[in-house]
Amino acid sequence: MANARVTVHPEARIDRIEPEVHGHFSEHLGRCVYDGLYTDDTAGEDGFRTDVLELLSDLDIPVLRWPGGCFADDYHWEDGVGPQEDRPRRRNLFWAQGRDDVPEESNAFGTDEFLQFCERVGTKPYLAANVGSGDPQEAADWMEYCGYDGDTELADRRRENGHEEPYEVPFWGVGNENWGCGGQMSPEQYAREYRRFATYMGSMDNLMLDYDVDLIACGFEGHEWNRRFLEEVASGRWGVDFPLDHITLHHYYGRAMTVSESDEDDYDELLVEALEMEEHIERIASAVDAAASTRDIGVIIDEWGTWHPEAVPENGLEQPGTVLDALSAAAVLDIFNHNADVMTMSNIAQTVNVLQCLVETDGDDAWARPTYRVFDLYAPHKANEAVTTTVDAPTRDVERKDDDLPLVGASASVSEDGETYVTVTNLDCREGHSVEVEVDGGVTADDVADAQVLFEGQDAGLHVDADNADEFVAEDLDVDVADGVLTVDLDASTVAAITLE
Ligand code: AHR
Repeated sequence: MANARVTVHPEARIDRIEPEVHGHFSEHLGRCVYDGLYTDDTAGEDGFRTDVLELLSDLDIPVLRWPGGCFADDYHWEDGVGPQEDRPRRRNLFWAQGRDDVPEESNAFGTDEFLQFCERVGTKPYLAANVGSGDPQEAADWMEYCGYDGDTELADRRRENGHEEPYEVPFWGVGNENWGCGGQMSPEQYAREYRRFATYMGSMDNLMLDYDVDLIACGFEGHEWNRRFLEEVASGRWGVDFPLDHITLHHYYGRAMTVSESDEDDYDELLVEALEMEEHIERIASAVDAAASTRDIGVIIDEWGTWHPEAVPENGLEQPGTVLDALSAAAVLDIFNHNADVMTMSNIAQTVNVLQCLVETDGDDAWARPTYRVFDLYAPHKANEAVTTTVDAPTRDVERKDDDLPLVGASASVSEDGETYVTVTNLDCREGHSVEVEVDGGVTADDVADAQVLFEGQDAGLHVDADNADEFVAEDLDVDVADGVLTVDLDASTVAAITLE
């Protein structure tokens, strides 16, 4: 007997799920770039790790943000172009670079390496300009170096450095966490900086580049900040028409849950924190509506994921990969689908080795973490139309958070060809649940083209490493269809996907 019900309304369209909502973030921090994307040991001729590159290409990642994070707030792009032997070694203010055992920044991996890495993976680059310690000229020059096709010193430098054609960089971040590591600014102060930087970065778009550029402003989890920032941006001469395409915020969770000492109560607490993403999206979207109701500003969550106490600057923010983390990613991707009308991008932190990475490396080995499997399972949602999906499921009281955890989550989307893709997650790490999936108009057994499940029989807290990583791949899932309704039995802490033709 089913104890949870998911109801899908294929005609109740929310909006297109922008592929960039499945985006990624890579920072010069610990082993994300050096050892992660790029290394001397296991690399091809260009220094890229071919194993990591292949894993990311297979996932068809839509966008990659770089070079930070806080690192970007003390990064000067010209240090990282030109012959590698001439590039200066620098100490970056963040992540203890240059202290104790943490090496300084060699600048071996710079703009050309990053953009060529993106070309090889087949993903769009998103560059974060330095507002905290940089200036608008530096940001505008960076745009010109990357994207200008004319006869200038900067465009010629790019050519001399091996890239005749301009790179296409569609996304430009105007700073990073400017309420914190990006300059400790008030919302009004950042708004004025934003306008100053965007004047030079935005107008370049018209005068110099042959493609559109989206400018991305930093928001904050403290939502009053966003309202004040947007209000101040709009107080200039251009009013609400001032160029601003997206506003971001960062949401990390699990800070109180040491992975190696946690139990099921901690798992519930972490999942409740992950689900707070919904409220953040709603609140930042309301700030946009209030301040700029005359045009669209997209919401980007450009850093998100688990951040456990194991991840400290001294170990380059590394933490174990678990099924629990992957479940939280499934829950958050469902939330993104429900909010497809406002969400324009997200970038999970961080691609390789750092925080809730999708790929982990150790010497010559590179493997996919369970979170990678969730992104892979959710991939068919990309570019589909999200549709209204409701869940009626038991909840568990999570006293420490003074909240309830819904034990089943779901979302659904419809492809151009009319296929419905439903993802259902059992967020209960203690027990299985039987879930009925009802789709308007009813379902027959012939409609079920495919059904897959992740993590059956796996312990939510088990640490995943090179030896067991292959045990977390998707398997076929049994589906019962009776009276037009589909039923799946989901083990504790599993994620399922059903394709209906
Ligand atoms: O992802 C790690 C750090 O978290 C980033 O550098 C910063 O933007 C955020 O606080």
